[in-house]
Amino acid sequence: MKILGILASHQEHGLNAQMLDTVLKNVDSGTETETIYLENYDITPHKYHEKNAVLDELSEKLMESDVWVFAAPTYWRELSGVLKDFFDCMRPKFVYFKENGDTIPGQFKNKHYLSITSCYVSPLENFLTGVTDESFKTIDRVMSAAGVIKTGEIVLPGTFGMKELPDSKVELCKKYAKKISVKKRKDDSTVKRYIQLFFMIAVMALITMGIQLPLSRWIAGNFWLNYASFTVIFFVLLGSILHFVTFVKHRRR
Ligand SMILES: Cc1cc2nc3c(=O)[nH]c(=O)nc-3n(C[C@H](O)[C@H](O)[C@H](O)COP(=O)(O)O)c2cc1C
Repeated sequence: MKILGILASHQEHGLNAQMLDTVLKNVDSGTETETIYLENYDITPHKYHEKNAVLDELSEKLMESDVWVFAAPTYWRELSGVLKDFFDCMRPKFVYFKENGDTIPGQFKNKHYLSITSCYVSPLENFLTGVTDESFKTIDRVMSAAGVIKTGEIVLPGTFGMKELPDSKVELCKKYAKKISVKKRKDDSTVKRYIQLFFMIAVMALITMGIQLPLSRWIAGNFWLNYASFTVIFFVLLGSILHFVTFVKHRRR
């Protein structure tokens, strides 16, 4: 079992480095760890028919690890440029291309990852406006294309003037260290997802029937009106909650 930390901050010993370090130092004994600082690598795009020794070396490090921990600050409300550049250049190694140009997960399919980011704005502002969301979303988009499975997110807002990690974040880093130390099978969240889906449907059905109550004067006794209104209300509610869970909800505090 090996865990690879990928630090993508301008600062080699900044807060993201500290969070990454705390995670890696607290993994179970017997778990091998390594950190790479992306600024130390001359990352350039892959040119056809030419070997790219840097990308090959990084690709090997990714391949020999079971879990990747990305630590990248939020810059300009987005993912730090160096991690984005790394993702851009690694694209041919992350995905296979089909004849029609579509992509499918490549050689790293079913590995796992944890995302870490931080920002200056306060926890309240980040909670309300989601300054760090884009950083997480970009990592998720790339990892999803590569078939790499998410294990969680750590966010540290309010970093202006901060030199050391607050105790609560140290504890969170330790918690994730334990979580990622366990060797996972392909996607071990399937049962959890079915249970979540069951409760989502149960709650949505209840809300839908509640919304239908005031409409009962028009729809009661008419099977097709009842059915059509249920379907439309249920679809809107379920669509909204799925959108929220899939695209919007990220750790903000
Ligand atoms: C180029 C740049 C852009 C930044 N943009 C934002 C931003 O849009 N919003 C914000 O809250 N913080 C922003 N920050 C602050 C960083 O997110 C913050 O300094 C981060 O916690 C640094 O992490 P580090 O200690 O690991 O380097 C920016 C910092 C830099 C250097």
